[in-house]
Amino acid sequence: MTARLVIAVDGPAASGKGTIAKRLAAHFGLPHLDTGLLYRAVGWRSLQTGEAPAEVAAGLGAGDLGDPALRGDEAGQQASKVGAIPEVRANLLKFQKEFSSQAAGAVLDGRDIGTVICPDAPVKIFVTASTEVRADRRYRELRARGVDTIRPRVLAEMAERDRRDSERAAAPLIAAPDAYHLDTSDMDADAAFAAALAFIERKGFRSSGP
Ligand code: DC
Repeated sequence: MTARLVIAVDGPAASGKGTIAKRLAAHFGLPHLDTGLLYRAVGWRSLQTGEAPAEVAAGLGAGDLGDPALRGDEAGQQASKVGAIPEVRANLLKFQKEFSSQAAGAVLDGRDIGTVICPDAPVKIFVTASTEVRADRRYRELRARGVDTIRPRVLAEMAERDRRDSERAAAPLIAAPDAYHLDTSDMDADAAFAAALAFIERKGFRSSGP
């Protein structure tokens, strides 16, 4: 019998981790949690209401993650700021741990899944891409959504967020020692998914679906 499949996907913004995680979840029929949305919801709500981020985090539930504004870059910057607050991280821990403990298994993506949330996950993938490539992806995505911005600004904001996420004391963005490193700089989404799936299959996990 193979172990319960928990897949931990970590990496910086626009590395492709979210797309990979979503496709892996669909392939294996597993529930998926984009943990960035939790931090985005905390950052966004505390900005709107003035509530302390740790208090927002303590009361957050799955029903609070649907607002389209959470996907925007302002929410991303706020998320990165509140993500550096240890009490916020502590208050979001239980929800994430419970999600990852479901009998069916789970896929979670974020910054500290392989190191803090699911240190025993049998599959850990650390997704990267060069800063230039990630900024290009984000710039094109924003323009496609009709957001008026310029590439140098996107690049500068991304570099700032990377720095904050990597240098913070509380659960910084870092690869777990047993993570598979996947650099998607020269890959499209299909190639990145195929590489991640091949790694998981090498570990002996197979989809039980059709
Ligand atoms: O993955 P994302 O771009 O939606 O994440 C937004 C921010 O949230 C990211 O810059 C840092 C924070 N975050 C975190 O600190 N820990 C996580 N597990 C996920 C996101």
